Amino acid sequence: MHITAETALCGIALHPAGHTRSPAMHNAAYAALSIDAVYLAFDVRPAELADAVAGMRGLGIRQLSVSLPHKEAILAHLDEVDETARRIGAVNTVLRRGDALVGTNTDWLGAVGALERETRLEDRQAIVLGAGGTARAVVYGLRARGARVHVLNRTPEKARALADDLGAEGAGGLEELADRPYDVLVNTTSVGLGSDASPVDPDHLGRGGVVLDAVYEPERTRLLRDAEARGARVVSGRWMLVYQAVAQLEAWTGQTAPVEVMAKAFG
Ligand code: ATR
Repeated sequence: MHITAETALCGIALHPAGHTRSPAMHNAAYAALSIDAVYLAFDVRPAELADAVAGMRGLGIRQLSVSLPHKEAILAHLDEVDETARRIGAVNTVLRRGDALVGTNTDWLGAVGALERETRLEDRQAIVLGAGGTARAVVYGLRARGARVHVLNRTPEKARALADDLGAEGAGGLEELADRPYDVLVNTTSVGLGSDASPVDPDHLGRGGVVLDAVYEPERTRLLRDAEARGARVVSGRWMLVYQAVAQLEAWTGQTAPVEVMAKAFG
């Protein structure tokens, strides 16, 4: 890497910062595309978010990714938030447009890109497990691509509120999976993160279809193994992280991002 006075500074604001793979993915893409930029991880505590945004302005940071726990709080500090990020209720990318800092969201493109490795989405019947922040981005993406969506959650009231808000067809509790056929199933609950648990009874899974787990550690979760045993094509959550980064890079540069390079850098 050759840093000069022209080198653009980009990065990610998150807390804690230790585990992020975003610098590896973005820097690998810059190298592959010969983009004169460097991407760093900024550990920003919640109380310092406003200062971090002011720092982005003052230092001329060109593209800032935003991760937990700042994705919702940052909306209040930006000059503009685009329609997509408003609908999802979260910003994962800040770009400069003239002097303005503009928030957008590419998490939905992460889910769509991951699923579209295996299937088209238009007119497909999708089920989303969970009703938190990740579910909002996933449901938005599925609706944007023309899928029919049902939201199932441990707390069904939250699933109903999310479904109403984002135009999903229906909602219910996790156990309803047993009676509901699907082409596409996406887990957005935290069940399976660092454990070998599944959010659903394996006997409630359908046969075949495409199953995506937003949980990416471990890469092959219990849900994905159960689904594979029932003939599903499975997609690891790492692809959601790769494709949301791909969309961030493309939004900033206007160039086509090198997906395989970024996936390899993710590790
Ligand atoms: P994120 O922003 O990653 O989506 P979140 O907003 O905290 O995280 O949402 C976590 C999701 O995992 C919720 O849908 C939650 O269900 P509830 O709405 O009922 O809390 C779900 N979840 C967490 N632990 C769970 C468990 N043990 N069993 C089933 N669902 C669980």
